[in-house]
Amino acid sequence: MDVAIIGSGYVGVVTAACLASHGHRVTCVDIDPDRVARISAGEAPMHEPGLPALLAEAVAARRLSATTDLAAAVAGAEVTFICVGTPSQDGAIDLSLVETAAGQIGAALGSGEERYRVVVVKSTVVPGTTAGPVRRLLQEGSGLPADRLGLCMNPEFLSQGSAVRDFLEPDRIVIGAMDDASAAVLERLYAGFACPKLRVSLTNAELIKYAANSFQACLISFSNQIAAICEATPGADEAEVMAAVHLDRLIAVDGRPAPVARFLRGGIGFGGSCFPKDLVALRHFGRSRGAATTMLDAIVDTNHDRPRQVMELLRRQLGDLTGRRIAVLGLAFKPDTDDLRESPGVALLRLLAEAGAEAHGHDPLPEALANARRLLRNGIALHDSVDEALEGAEAALIATAWPAYRRLDWTRLGAGMARPVLLDGRGLLADMEMSPGLGYRRIGVG
Ligand code: UGA
Repeated sequence: MDVAIIGSGYVGVVTAACLASHGHRVTCVDIDPDRVARISAGEAPMHEPGLPALLAEAVAARRLSATTDLAAAVAGAEVTFICVGTPSQDGAIDLSLVETAAGQIGAALGSGEERYRVVVVKSTVVPGTTAGPVRRLLQEGSGLPADRLGLCMNPEFLSQGSAVRDFLEPDRIVIGAMDDASAAVLERLYAGFACPKLRVSLTNAELIKYAANSFQACLISFSNQIAAICEATPGADEAEVMAAVHLDRLIAVDGRPAPVARFLRGGIGFGGSCFPKDLVALRHFGRSRGAATTMLDAIVDTNHDRPRQVMELLRRQLGDLTGRRIAVLGLAFKPDTDDLRESPGVALLRLLAEAGAEAHGHDPLPEALANARRLLRNGIALHDSVDEALEGAEAALIATAWPAYRRLDWTRLGAGMARPVLLDGRGLLADMEMSPGLGYRRIGVG
């Protein structure tokens, strides 16, 4: 099928490359000519495992191209996906990019040839957006009768770092559709995918996305609250407590922790382009409808408090942090991405600088470090090597669970520190033998 994808961020490009790998002909659209040039050359515009190979193959096979010309791409496509960003604006969702895209797609469809077209919202949008403003803008722009213009909402469940695998081996595909004809087109597009396909209303498709992300964030904040209570309790250890919870028959499979246990571990909080913004968007939407949002409030507040609690743990070990050299290891919001959005490691660097500490940062991924250099300027030193970041430091904090940090010679690195205090914010080294002189401490321990 011929597909146009409006917005070439990580969701758009991963969707494009994966659909092309299923034999579809895909055109990526973006307003950024540099990004379009990179995609056209078969180059991934962001760090995402598996994406470069898939993209290069699709471009070489002429199943994937990129352009800044939205009208031309839409005119030639049977299915057009909206994959533009939906950032937060004062705690509410900012739908302006979605609305602009819908208006432009409408105009392009109106001047195109007469055949049935389907527009699919993949961007995360609050309930009512697809059937409301998107539908209205498409109809006004195109002047097409409803029987020539299909409309779907098809949320993505792509986790950065495993987005290609998540797309190609999905748990489920949610097809929110305005009517049977629209749904039939998406079912044809996804015919090569063997997972359960759920046909739902447009509104429920929008809500499924928010409910899925809120559920995962809820597990993380719950675990972090238990970790904070353990940290305030001498002798307590969150990892030991939660390991027993993981074996509850509700969440264990054959006596072993189920995959959900991955999100039921204490840490330093969640970040990224999805959880933080989606939670506040759903909360704002719920409040605007007079619905109770106490759970969402608690998830957001617990996450907001977590970096400050970590600062207290550092103070407990070092006392006043003014003038103390402290290294934060891991700036990406999670491993295998160069994305720094809402990253707890970045939040901690900023809090350290605010507290008058000498803040030093490191990330093993050069692209993440380059992004950090653009984002962080005043009073924060960033290093290409862990040795440099740790030299003379009085404490180091592991903020991202990069596997590279497990391969380091910690005894040697500790010897280069002024006072070896290693706070493991992700439990990354928990199963490793650490020399007692290193001052190793996991998060969640009282
Ligand atoms: C998340 C969801 O996992 C995806 O299912 C969803 O499709 C995606 O958002 C989206 O809405 O597009 P992502 O933000 O890429 O994916 O990453 P996660 O692996 O979920 O991690 C989010 C944050 O939570 C990271 O900062 C991570 O370090 C943190 N986290 C994760 C914890 O603090 N503790 C955990 O136990 C797990």
